Amino acid sequence: MYPSDEEVLGKLAPVLEEAFETHLRRRRDWFAHDVVPPGAYEQVDVEDGVASALYVNLLTEDNLPYYSRTLLNLLGDEGVWGGWIRRWTAEEGQHSIVLRDWIRATGALDLDVLERGRMHQVCGGRVPEPPNVLEALTYVSFQEKATAVAHRNTGKALGNELGRSVMQKVAADEAHHYKLYCTLMGAGHELWPDAAMIAVWEQVRRFAMPGEGIEDFDAHSAAISDVGIFGAEQLLTEVFEPIVGEWGLETATGLGTDAERARSRIFRRFETVRRRA
Ligand SMILES: [Fe+2]
Ligand SMILES: [Fe+2]
Repeated sequence: MYPSDEEVLGKLAPVLEEAFETHLRRRRDWFAHDVVPPGAYEQVDVEDGVASALYVNLLTEDNLPYYSRTLLNLLGDEGVWGGWIRRWTAEEGQHSIVLRDWIRATGALDLDVLERGRMHQVCGGRVPEPPNVLEALTYVSFQEKATAVAHRNTGKALGNELGRSVMQKVAADEAHHYKLYCTLMGAGHELWPDAAMIAVWEQVRRFAMPGEGIEDFDAHSAAISDVGIFGAEQLLTEVFEPIVGEWGLETATGLGTDAERARSRIFRRFETVRRRA
């Protein structure tokens, strides 16, 4: 059903070369110390759901070593794939730096609780492990877009100018990453329409926001959803539907039986989520 990972990596390598160049042209370098200048201080109080979002967002960024490991294992650390993953890791690394800088500058979270949470999270080292390259690229497309939305909405909910600009910087990076993966998988849908459709269904039905392994993750998730930062509704209308639209899945033709079944499951699942939300 799925093409071999070697085939996918080989055929998508030239697509990645181009998308990587585009990424480097589009993304402006930025520095955490410019965004939150050393010595900045301003007390900021946040409500519980917003605090949960800050906490989960930051601990997820702190878990970066395992996301990098999983991508290196699946995509390889040679050639353009390795070059991209290392560059991506370097960019992602700044997210936890700037988020923590802002939290320290505002007292928005209890730093003891945060550090205990980080130790627990990183000692556990749990991240999703997609079974093959097509599912992995589908997952990271969803995940980058979802984190872009979550960071942006967290910024809006903070009621603090500096905080908003911090979250916007991070959200803009995630949006750039999303663009690259979306382009890659767009090519994947052209090359392997059946397998890529099935990969979408497998990842739609499994998708959870990053953060598994965080203590009380379910309670935090519920609080984050309650304040309208990220929940089932945002996942459907700001992540799944626009991405599936980008890939033209609703109107794709010439699919085999299994892919057709996967497509109807995807859209049936969307309907269920819409009714619930
Ligand atoms: Fe990030
Ligand atoms: Fe990202």
